[in-house]
Amino acid sequence: MPAKTFAIANQKGGVGKTTTAINLAAALAQAGLPTLLVDLDPQGNATSALGHEKVEQGSILAAVHDSEPLAGKVIQTRIANLSLIPGETDLAMLEAELTKKEHYLHQFKKHLSPLQEGGAFKVLVLDCPPSLGLICMNALAASDSYIVPMQCEYLAMEGLGQILNVARGLKEAGANPGLDLGGIVLTMYDLRTNLSRQVEAEVRKHLADKVFKTVIPRTVRLGEAPSFGQTIFEYDPFGPASAAYNALAKELCARFSLQA
Ligand SMILES: Nc1ncnc2c1ncn2[C@@H]1O[C@H](COP(=O)(O)OP(=O)(O)O)[C@@H](O)[C@H]1O
Ligand SMILES: [Mg+2]
Repeated sequence: MPAKTFAIANQKGGVGKTTTAINLAAALAQAGLPTLLVDLDPQGNATSALGHEKVEQGSILAAVHDSEPLAGKVIQTRIANLSLIPGETDLAMLEAELTKKEHYLHQFKKHLSPLQEGGAFKVLVLDCPPSLGLICMNALAASDSYIVPMQCEYLAMEGLGQILNVARGLKEAGANPGLDLGGIVLTMYDLRTNLSRQVEAEVRKHLADKVFKTVIPRTVRLGEAPSFGQTIFEYDPFGPASAAYNALAKELCARFSLQA
């Protein structure tokens, strides 16, 4: 079975993509699924949040630019079953690099497929940058499904429409006919505010089953953990955010029949 590949995507910054990518990937790894997290953001937040450094020539950029095998960039994290392809600052050049390539939408697919097919991993999680540019499109073109973290805020639905349209466009253009909305996860959820509840009701009304039952609560712990280079399971193992990301991983496994 090839690894199931999920792009964590939303063109908006600060909505919880990276937080979801690392903690969901860690939860899946802890559940016994060999998981590869790929940092696709030039800021390298996923890399540093796991306590790793950005690595020059160590990201997917080197694979695309120099046709180096991507398998050589995989590093093992201290978490069992969790591997990482780190980011690097020069990833910012990747978008320009991609425009020069033939089959410019399928560069990630080309380089990721040996890792998807190789049998070492059951899940790939791609942490996308906050834009709908070529990096995100390449990630979507290389994925089975995309997961949209959504902050419960004003105009959240509008932003959601944009990414759904881009994904639909890719699908209809034949770039990835099987691409599927894997789910929407509500992040930074605050039960005490009307806004969180209103946004939740609206999203569930329109997208029903696509919205994960699990919501990720707003908690300062999630904001603090990255500065210690730790996942939430290391930083606050018994807190609500750990429980939420474990529950999200469980839901995802059930939805996609993923088994350790
Ligand atoms: N549920 C949450 N509660 C509180 N802070 C959060 C939560 N999720 C993310 N954060 C914080 O919000 C900021 C943006 O989150 P991040 O995951 O980096 O978003 P993105 O990758 O979409 O830009 C970060 O400082 C992060 O630590
Ligand atoms: Mg991010």
